[in-house]
Amino acid sequence: MASGWLFPIFDLFITELLNYITLRNLLSFFALICLLAACSGGTQNEEATAESEETVTEEETPQVDAQLLATGETVYNQYCLACHQANGQGVPGAFPPLTQTEWVLGDDIRLITIVLQGLQGEITVNGETYNNIMAPHAFLTDDQVAGVLTYVRNSFGNKAEAIAPEEVAEVRASIES
Ligand code: HEC
Repeated sequence: MASGWLFPIFDLFITELLNYITLRNLLSFFALICLLAACSGGTQNEEATAESEETVTEEETPQVDAQLLATGETVYNQYCLACHQANGQGVPGAFPPLTQTEWVLGDDIRLITIVLQGLQGEITVNGETYNNIMAPHAFLTDDQVAGVLTYVRNSFGNKAEAIAPEEVAEVRASIES
């Protein structure tokens, strides 16, 4: 009968079709794998970048220039300690503390200006009111001012960015002009 010769052809057709489908499936499967790999690769990269950024910031903060810190400690002991005390706690009612204060941890320019120009008038530091006079310390070099502020920002329980001598030079120039 007709089916006698038709079936092998039909069989062949089915087999070809299956092969074709399998090949296509394989291709799309492969494409899917690539896509997944690309995606997860992307996330891994992002994670890696985020991690390395974290490591950088973690390492950078304590890695304050040792020379600057040493200069700073000498300057502090010689010019600031008498009022702000060895531990930076100040003297209640007379000399404000340098521990976690908004001036020490806050704006660089304002902080540099306090050392160069001094400060007087009523201020509130950590909830306490002071109305006293701090003399200007413009006689200190840029390195000394940067050093002492970097030292203060990294002592007495403080942890804040270093102050660069170049920054002090800029503030000094803007004050003088
Ligand atoms: C003669 C005492 C005296 C000396 C020395 C002195 N200060 Fe002060 N300092 C003061 C007083 C008083 C104030 C508050 C002024 C006010 O009441 O307006 C002050 C305020 C400050 C402030 C802002 C408020 C705060 O506590 O955060 C900073 C920062 C500061 N001094 C840093 C220094 C640094 C750094 C040195 C050394 C280079 C220094 N001072 C030397 C007396 C002094």
